[in-house]
Amino acid sequence: MILEVVTCNCTGLNYMMKSGAIGCLVMILCFSVFLFFTSEIHTDRLSRESNPSSFAALKLQVTEKHVHLDNGIVKLTLVKPSGTIAKVGYQEVENILDNRHTETRRGYWDMVWVKSNTSQYEAIHCTSFNVIAQTEDRIEVSFTSTWNVSRGENVAPLNIDKRYIVLRGVSGFYSYAIFEHLKGWPAVDIGEARIVFKLDENMFRHMIISDDMQREMPSANDRKRGRTLDFKEAVVLENPGNPALQGEVDDKYQYSCNTKDNRVHGWISSESKVGFWVIRPSDEFQGGGPLKRDLTSHASSTSLAMFLSSHYVGVNVRVRNGEAWKKVLGPVFIYLNSRINKTKPNTLWEDAKTQMMKEIKKWPYDFPASTDYVHADQRGTITGRLLVRDNYLNRGKTVPAKFAYVGLAAPGYAGSWQRESKGYQFWTQTDETGSFTITSVRAGKYNLYAWVPTVVGDFKHKFNILIKQGSIVELGDVVYTPPRNGPTLWEIGIADRTAAEFYIPDPDPTLVNKLFINHTDKYRQYGLWERYAHLYPDQDLTYIVGKSDYRKHWFFAHVNRKVKRGYKPATWKIIFDATNVTRGANYTLRLALASAQCANIQVWINDDPNGNLPHFETGRIGKDNAIARHGIHGLYWLYSIKVDGFKLVHGTNTIYLKQSLQFGAFNSVLYDYIRLEAPTT
Ligand SMILES: *[C@@H]1O[C@H](CO)[C@@H](O)[C@H](O)[C@H]1NC(C)=O
Ligand SMILES: *[C@@H]1O[C@H](CO)[C@@H](O)[C@H](O)[C@H]1NC(C)=O
Ligand SMILES: *[C@@H]1O[C@H](CO)[C@@H](O)[C@H](O)[C@H]1NC(C)=O
Ligand SMILES: *[C@@H]1O[C@H](CO)[C@@H](O)[C@H](O)[C@H]1NC(C)=O
Ligand SMILES: *[C@@H]1O[C@H](CO)[C@@H](O)[C@H](O)[C@H]1NC(C)=O
Ligand SMILES: *[C@@H]1O[C@H](CO)[C@@H](O)[C@H](O)[C@H]1NC(C)=O
Repeated sequence: MILEVVTCNCTGLNYMMKSGAIGCLVMILCFSVFLFFTSEIHTDRLSRESNPSSFAALKLQVTEKHVHLDNGIVKLTLVKPSGTIAKVGYQEVENILDNRHTETRRGYWDMVWVKSNTSQYEAIHCTSFNVIAQTEDRIEVSFTSTWNVSRGENVAPLNIDKRYIVLRGVSGFYSYAIFEHLKGWPAVDIGEARIVFKLDENMFRHMIISDDMQREMPSANDRKRGRTLDFKEAVVLENPGNPALQGEVDDKYQYSCNTKDNRVHGWISSESKVGFWVIRPSDEFQGGGPLKRDLTSHASSTSLAMFLSSHYVGVNVRVRNGEAWKKVLGPVFIYLNSRINKTKPNTLWEDAKTQMMKEIKKWPYDFPASTDYVHADQRGTITGRLLVRDNYLNRGKTVPAKFAYVGLAAPGYAGSWQRESKGYQFWTQTDETGSFTITSVRAGKYNLYAWVPTVVGDFKHKFNILIKQGSIVELGDVVYTPPRNGPTLWEIGIADRTAAEFYIPDPDPTLVNKLFINHTDKYRQYGLWERYAHLYPDQDLTYIVGKSDYRKHWFFAHVNRKVKRGYKPATWKIIFDATNVTRGANYTLRLALASAQCANIQVWINDDPNGNLPHFETGRIGKDNAIARHGIHGLYWLYSIKVDGFKLVHGTNTIYLKQSLQFGAFNSVLYDYIRLEAPTT
């Protein structure tokens, strides 16, 4: 497991490099009892769901040091009172978790929080155990940790209640937690909260993240024997146990996903007998909005259920000035299945996806007992239709905002949801007519936000939205008028908040993850930032409007150029012809970024960057680290830059874009979209 501390270290060290502090790497030692079993279970899942009483009644056994929950399919052994998961028994397998670890390091909740500006790792070990519900059909148990001043500075000032639920006839278990900060308590920043599952490595080697991301994975020992690259997370495998993996790059961030697209991920055991799946039916607690991206499963047979994090998109949960704050994280469902059909490969994955759809349908769940988990009857709905009116497109008429992202989040400014993680967010996508319905919204006060793929900027509805329990808010038509001062003279890219449409190079042939060869997500390869210097050894990128093609000639990341000693800033040029320049009128340059990492973009218009002050600069921005984390987007930034007509000439013009900070490889931005608008007509 690797934890990382996200800070924008602009003081001279490139923080992701070997010398920087990215956290501790806890390696898993590799020797284990191979759990062997042969049974074939053909479950008739229909009858299971429709008739739970045909399954064994639940059993709860509490001993001095353990709590056992057993429904005849899954047997959960929890450590008392810490509330970690010591064993997940399934059918004949006594424990699918890795017995080589202590009982508190196999399946556990943990967090990263900030104390006096320093990130701290904290495994969440509780001090008190309670049975919340116990019937033949449902058991819910709780492990709590209660903070008070005498617990001292090394424990986050939070009350934490970890819950586990086992239901009759259900092949798995649920977990959620309630984090609470009472009024008057010291400030706290939460950087990360998650559940970690370390599975038995001898059993689970085949990882599945999505239909097109599935592969045999290296073990912890394979990684240990490997050669570490520019940061600890990335290694080249040398002498792996499975010779087929020889020479490949492994890095857990290569398997990150947009959380909205990743409701299930997990592992299939050798001989495809058992599947282990983390199913997350909702993101309402995640923060960061629909482009939030995070880790999934990774090498060493590890699966994560991420609840809070500032990776790629989002920020720490910042609880300040003694404010009261509370949030329910989860539940997530841990699903186990076994080989249903010998003759069909991948049945476990197909079955896991089916189960995921069932869990989504059941959301919000009706069984969690905490009154903080809000049930369906305490939630509301909002409907409406989003239209776009761009004064220089479609003759200024409104058109439906097709497949736009529309969401409710805490009141704030347009786009504030990207950096919001204290509250709950509820998002959906419009259909072809721009219509949307968001259901299961917790009662409360929100703003309605939206962004539309292919359209720049952020929409916010001007009124606060009050969602009451059981109510439907019918908003009718709402119109987004995106930023626009004049007709488009030229544009580069697609305004969709990613850099995916730009040129993504092939990786260095010695630094390849084979899964991503011939894959739609080429950007997941390691070290693409170094390819810039290979492609542009002497001269920086020049883009000629009308001649160049952004899919081929616009490098996806504005990175520093690697030179003999360190890295040098790169200055890119956009060359365009202008006729009929209206001197004395204002032109507008729209500069949309899909991500920034400790970067400063400076802009010159026709002036030589050497010896002239820039016309505009962003100032130092960004710490989402999307490029090093093999992402294609992070936080979105939009700059609208006024260009006086006197700056332009009849004939050939040049816009210079320079990323001016040069501490290392990762002072960089991903562009989303660039447009030059003529003056208002
Ligand atoms: C934390 O960092 C901020 C901003 O850099 C600084 O103002 C503050 O004094 C620091 N606090 C501590 C306790 O070091
Ligand atoms: C505060 O916490 C300590 C350590 O957990 C505990 O022993 C003590 O009883 C608590 N005090 C109060 C007032 O709750
Ligand atoms: C197993 O898969 C085969 C081939 O797809 C199919 O014909 C058969 O009905 C399946 N059996 C079960 C029990 O699902
Ligand atoms: C990628 O595609 C090329 C051309 O179709 C093929 O020759 C090559 O074997 C493929 N490589 C992998 C690793 O799939
Ligand atoms: C420039 O202006 C002239 C005169 O108004 C006009 O004839 C010509 O079409 C314009 N050219 C462009 C490219 O707009
Ligand atoms: C251009 O912008 C400036 C400042 O924003 C404004 O004062 C000026 O009136 C504008 N010029 C025109 C021709 O609109």
